[in-house]
Amino acid sequence: MNLDDIRGKLFDNVLMDCIRDKFYHINVDPLTQKERLFFDNAGGALRLKGANDAFKKIDELPDCPEHSNSSALSLHELQLNAYADIKTIFNAKSGSIVTSLTASMVMFEIARAIIENVPGTNVVTTALEHPSAYDSAIIYAKKMGKEIRVAETNPITGGVDVESIVKLIDKNTCVLSVIYASNISGAILDIEEIIKAARAIKPDIYIICDAVQHAPHGVIDLEKTPVDAINIAPYKMGCPRGIGFGFVSERVAELPHDKLVSKDRSIWELGSPASGHFAAINSYVDYVCWIGSQSLDNDDRRALFVEGMNRMKMHERALMYKMLNGTLNCKGLRDIQGVTVYLDDEDLTKRDFIMAIGFNGINHKEAVNLLEKEGVITYERVISSPYSSRMLESLKFDGCVRVSPFHCHNVEDIEKFLKIVLNISQQISKESIKKSIV
Ligand SMILES: Cc1ncc(COP(=O)(O)O)c(C=O)c1O
Repeated sequence: MNLDDIRGKLFDNVLMDCIRDKFYHINVDPLTQKERLFFDNAGGALRLKGANDAFKKIDELPDCPEHSNSSALSLHELQLNAYADIKTIFNAKSGSIVTSLTASMVMFEIARAIIENVPGTNVVTTALEHPSAYDSAIIYAKKMGKEIRVAETNPITGGVDVESIVKLIDKNTCVLSVIYASNISGAILDIEEIIKAARAIKPDIYIICDAVQHAPHGVIDLEKTPVDAINIAPYKMGCPRGIGFGFVSERVAELPHDKLVSKDRSIWELGSPASGHFAAINSYVDYVCWIGSQSLDNDDRRALFVEGMNRMKMHERALMYKMLNGTLNCKGLRDIQGVTVYLDDEDLTKRDFIMAIGFNGINHKEAVNLLEKEGVITYERVISSPYSSRMLESLKFDGCVRVSPFHCHNVEDIEKFLKIVLNISQQISKESIKKSIV
């Protein structure tokens, strides 16, 4: 591994400035007009101007994409382009696109179609799943009388080991539903190895992958990781909220699912989604390709997209390295007394840019409030929340402050954050000394 792989590589200053200019509200909360660092991108990413402007422009049109007037035909074409771009994101050569209001709804629809219709006596999933994948697996497995098997997490890496999953799979496994990267620890699972090992046991096993957390940070390549179904949430990538996208292989596309009787069996779209979302996802892919074109001279959209994603990933890794280890100007999280970095796997090639941290002496909600007072938006993942409890119990800790920046952040943002964290931890320690004297 070379040094860039380990420590990442920042965008150069000119490109960084251009990228920042393409986002809304990086440094100021538009409602309060106060300065802020938005480090809750795993809950919904900073918005790309291009994608959101494209959404608004198209959303003004009343035309029905299934009608025949010229603007309607343009909207239909826009949708076909968006479907092609979703396939660009996944490197999918065949199969169907699924649309629904959220990524969770996409997941439920796919899990239901597979578990209700594919033979097999058990369903395998992991304790790290988002509730949309976990609960859909449980609900439909119960309904069909199939056994549910849950792979344990690895509390050191924050992920799930290949072996923990594979030992649960046998010839009677109907489907494996596995997350690509954790929305708590940022750990990226070795999906390529998981698929290989699972298919060595059962060559025709169905595999579903929740890529909502990973898609904004890394390349997905279904040629290398041929799963049957995968979903993404555009609002975690800079697009507006209001749609979830998925991809299903040809054999899943043909399974019984909710659709109009007159439509082709492979269609997974019900009704007419807002066309603005299609304009937004096209604009997002344009944006990533534009980043790719800064270092790659190529006309192929997928090649540019891959290059752009890799540049974003390397920039985020460089920021993550600095956040953990510090810069010339400030200490990193690993060295700030009174701060704990949970699930701190040394190997940053296996992590998306999510940090799980805690402040000694205060609970995670208090820490999130203190950070917000200083203008930093983060989010507490705590054991009392249904969105976190199973994952946290499995990872064997009671919660954390989740810190999730985005590739449009720069080194100054990270330093500002580190200084605020240092101040807060010093303040907590002073107050606890005062209390112990009283
Ligand atoms: C890993 C993961 N999967 C699925 C979802 C659900 O996405 P949506 O809100 O679009 O249903 C989320 C949302 O936070 C997530 O982090």
